[in-house]
Amino acid sequence: MVDFELTSRVSTADVGADGPIAFAIPEVSDDDVAAVVSVLRSGWITTGDECGKLESDLAGYLGARHVVAVSSCTAALEISLAYLHLPPGARVGVPAWTFVSTALAAVHNNLLPVLLDVDPLTLNLSPDALEAALGEGLDAVIAVHFGGVAVDPRIHQLCAAAGVPLIEDAAHAFGTKDERGFVGGPGTASACFSFYATKNLTSGEGGAIATDDEDLATFARTYRLHGMSADALARYKPGGSVTYDMVDPGIKANMPDLLAALARSQLARFEQSQARRRALLNRYRDLLEPEGIRFVPSGRVDGSADHLAVVLLPEGTDRDLVVAGLKGRGISPSIHFRPLHHFSWFAVNAATGPGGLATCEAVWPRALSLPLHVGLSVADVDRVAAALLDEVAL
Ligand SMILES: Cc1ncc(COP(=O)(O)O)c(C=O)c1O
Repeated sequence: MVDFELTSRVSTADVGADGPIAFAIPEVSDDDVAAVVSVLRSGWITTGDECGKLESDLAGYLGARHVVAVSSCTAALEISLAYLHLPPGARVGVPAWTFVSTALAAVHNNLLPVLLDVDPLTLNLSPDALEAALGEGLDAVIAVHFGGVAVDPRIHQLCAAAGVPLIEDAAHAFGTKDERGFVGGPGTASACFSFYATKNLTSGEGGAIATDDEDLATFARTYRLHGMSADALARYKPGGSVTYDMVDPGIKANMPDLLAALARSQLARFEQSQARRRALLNRYRDLLEPEGIRFVPSGRVDGSADHLAVVLLPEGTDRDLVVAGLKGRGISPSIHFRPLHHFSWFAVNAATGPGGLATCEAVWPRALSLPLHVGLSVADVDRVAAALLDEVAL
């Protein structure tokens, strides 16, 4: 049984039966607040011991060989690509169905994003689209575990067979399991997590790289702090050298202890939060699937982190009207994602894979993400589902 009445909730206002239902509200407990306050009072708030403890905790949870905490998933992706030292203009395959930062990680490394189509049932990178693009030549691939559903194992096999490095955009996939165990566990070249405010484990802003590769972990620890050979803690602690070298043209992407404390505290109750999230998502499915509303993924998937509640509106539905109708009832949906080639900048500055982007085109006008966060009550979910059915029927 899932406990639907979490205690110690301080950030989820009791909004009553007709109050607003936000798309996502971070669940912040009294323990979270105490953990952050303790760092605030400690005399050290930037990257230090707490960040190191978060890395150990995350590695322990995932079974990862190495974890490096950074300021965002975007930074984790940028660093993982920088580590490959690809020449300018090298081609990086990415699904077109993703957030902009998946492809921007390539752009910021002077690489060319090659947009690939997705599987219609999961909206994850299509193995067929990837295979065709590998045939034309790719130098690296970033695959997204969309909504917390692990990509098809063929994605790993195709990249391995072609000798092309695969980076996992695991922004939605903290807690996702695939045939290897946890995403980010043993067998991972680089899995990049997000701890952004809407994620299932949050530090407000933050991210992490999990990897088998000790050299990537070493590179990332330096690259996340301007490429400096010693971080502030190492320089300021008794006996530490005050000087440092700069060995790589890195970026500023370290995770401060203040935020690491919040992530650690959230990790301590992660399983409980995930059980609640899954129960809420299943309730949406129980209410909406019998009424003919399709979900992405099309069926329930064991091992999914259940990050999003994505539905496909019936063909021909005017999504703008549905969104306006829901907002008029105080309900805030979202859309994941606007395909990258629909953005004016990528329309000019990205390539498209040989198979085209037909699935992205077909799905784009129909996709809608319903509010999903552990602060929702069952009554909230029922209200959203009823409102959606009303709006779709109009
Ligand atoms: C698929 C995907 N990749 C990357 C990111 C970027 O994450 P961050 O905000 O931690 O940089 C997001 C953010 O929501 C995302 O949805």
